[in-house]
Amino acid sequence: MNNVLVTGGAGFIGSNFINYILDERDDYNIINLDKLTYAGNLENLVLSETKKNYHFIKGDIINAELVNYLFQKFDIKYVINFAAESHVDRSILGSEVFFRSNVLGTNVLLEASRKFEVEKFLQVSTDEVYGSLDSEGLFTEETPLHPNSPYSVSKASADMMALSFHHTYGLPVVITRCSNNYGSYQFPEKLIPLMIINTLNNKKLPVYGDGMNVRDWIYVVDHNRAVKAVFEKGKEGEVYNIGARTEMPNIEIVKLILRELGKSEDMIEYVKDRPGHDRRYAIDSTKIESELGWNPKFTFEDAVSQTIKWYLDNEQWWKRIISGEYQNYYQTQYGLR
Ligand code: NAD
Ligand code: TYD
Repeated sequence: MNNVLVTGGAGFIGSNFINYILDERDDYNIINLDKLTYAGNLENLVLSETKKNYHFIKGDIINAELVNYLFQKFDIKYVINFAAESHVDRSILGSEVFFRSNVLGTNVLLEASRKFEVEKFLQVSTDEVYGSLDSEGLFTEETPLHPNSPYSVSKASADMMALSFHHTYGLPVVITRCSNNYGSYQFPEKLIPLMIINTLNNKKLPVYGDGMNVRDWIYVVDHNRAVKAVFEKGKEGEVYNIGARTEMPNIEIVKLILRELGKSEDMIEYVKDRPGHDRRYAIDSTKIESELGWNPKFTFEDAVSQTIKWYLDNEQWWKRIISGEYQNYYQTQYGLR
């Protein structure tokens, strides 16, 4: 059996990956290790309940004793590390947990992977490690790392550490660096779900700065199709950028959501900018396309419509979330709202 340790599998992207891989293949035995932070939710795992080749363990990747125990017990052959603190705004409010989970946690997984001689270690990373672009140019895998937020610094550190384990110990590491994701089950602190839910709740839509910061958007399903391709075919020691060539200024996305939901642009409120706000991200994904034959399948228009529909149909899911811990965060962030 192919025993795969998937970390962070109760979060937005990790749960989507597990749902997808369990649907696609039954020769993977998935061990999902997740701490269940505010962002982890077992309800996101729709298929797994019924599967014999799926196991959930609640725990922290920084817990070396637990991690080593799991490697031994499940005879782990592969690791896919999604687990992380993932929100830039939270990293601005407090960086410590970002370094604990994203840097030290990854180190624990790398050390165990070395000890138990895993056959592949996939580090799920982000385009934010490259920093910010002006209006021209794209991030390639050769772009020097220039992370600007505590979040992106923690991710860049983990990437460098993973690559050093390849270089120094020959650990079969691969890294993916993806652009901004959207889709179902995304925690409503990120731009797209936040704007959808505020619109549905008749609340103001807080746009940072002038609204002209650009992000490059990809549907979570396309991201995970790429993760699978890199996991199965990626070359050891290599980095693969993942993006769908869908650059958009934030304000356009907000207006699109309002249009789709038949609401007025008067709901938009320009608020104080995020400190150190990166201006533009844009990914060149030529390498994964030409070397691994991956291409995005979904258009932005279709996938955003599907995503909006999902939030309309799954009110219970997000109502429970915004009435809990998130509510505190929502009220306190920069004292803006
Ligand atoms: P998320 O915040 O929705 O989920 C993170 C998951 O990791 C949660 O289930 C949480 O409980 C778990 N977790 C956090 N710390 C942990 C720890 N110490 N031990 C065990 N589990 C822990 O994040 P996401 O959006 O699904 O992102 C997943 C990964 O993809 C992250 O590594 C992130 O950096 C990367 N990424 C995200 C995006 C994006 O747009 N969301 C884009 C590119 C890359
Ligand atoms: P976000 O979803 O937090 O992702 P990231 O910062 O990792 O790219 O934010 C996406 C963009 O949207 C970013 O430029 C910040 C902006 N933004 C707002 O304007 N208002 C908001 O309330 C949020 C959460 C984000």
